[in-house]
Amino acid sequence: MTTAPSLAPQAAATRATAAARAVDVWKVYGSGEAQVIALRGVSVELERGRFTAIMGASGSGKSTLMHCLAGLDSVTRGDVHIGATKLTGLGDKGLTKLRREQVGFIFQQFNLLPTLTAEENILLPLAIAGRKPDPQWWDTVIDTVGLRDRLGHRPSQLSGGQQQRVACARALVSRPEVIFADEPTGNLDSKSGAEVLKFLQQSVREFGQTIVMVTHDPNAASYADRVIFLADGQIVDELTSPTASGVLDTIKRISGEQ
Ligand SMILES: Nc1ncnc2c1ncn2[C@@H]1O[C@H](COP(=O)(O)OP(=O)(O)OP(=O)(O)O)[C@@H](O)[C@H]1O
Ligand SMILES: [Mg+2]
Repeated sequence: MTTAPSLAPQAAATRATAAARAVDVWKVYGSGEAQVIALRGVSVELERGRFTAIMGASGSGKSTLMHCLAGLDSVTRGDVHIGATKLTGLGDKGLTKLRREQVGFIFQQFNLLPTLTAEENILLPLAIAGRKPDPQWWDTVIDTVGLRDRLGHRPSQLSGGQQQRVACARALVSRPEVIFADEPTGNLDSKSGAEVLKFLQQSVREFGQTIVMVTHDPNAASYADRVIFLADGQIVDELTSPTASGVLDTIKRISGEQ
């Protein structure tokens, strides 16, 4: 037997703390003339308890990467892990269970059920899994998103910002390993968007939630701890503790290089 290289224990420790991990992930859509290579060997570790933003031009592969990391789409080559679970090869049933128990989603279009109240929408994923929220955690989540007096309202009776806060509470209430958010502020005015971003940031800083957010907005990305930049299906840059102007400069530099 060969001796393990000296870096191995450190690498193993990083692995244990990663909430999600992609290893040389390729995603190819279609074939022949219609073939699109959406991801070209992406490797990334998303540390637990951090807020990561994914940025890049339209078509650079942001949503594809997020969908592959969240188990919503299969990879063509490579591996994806959520916590200690390897997604590749799990099968439909296993993937459904994993998404239900370990992943939360926030979409640009809120995706609330119109016939359910805010409270019923927030509780729906747990109800489907046959679980009830921890009462103390429920109170914390509801007070953090400021929805206490809106719980009996249906989505049509709520503003866009309030609807997105319902969606945030729905993602957070089951304490998932990772919350994936695809343009969560894309449909909101800047004030409601800032409220949602502050809430997401707070849930990372105070509750140790892991969040991965796709955004086009440098200001939204500045709420994250780390920004990953994609171009043509590859990670081309990254920033830690980003500022909006630093993000903007990086975007300009990347698009100049292409
Ligand atoms: N289901 C699909 N079938 C074929 N091609 C696809 C499919 N989904 C995405 N693509 C292609 O893969 C590439 C990456 O798409 P993706 O949706 O990940 O981009 P994006 O960075 O999220 O863009 P946007 O900012 O516009 O949302 C694009 O060229 C897109 O046309
Ligand atoms: Mg997209």
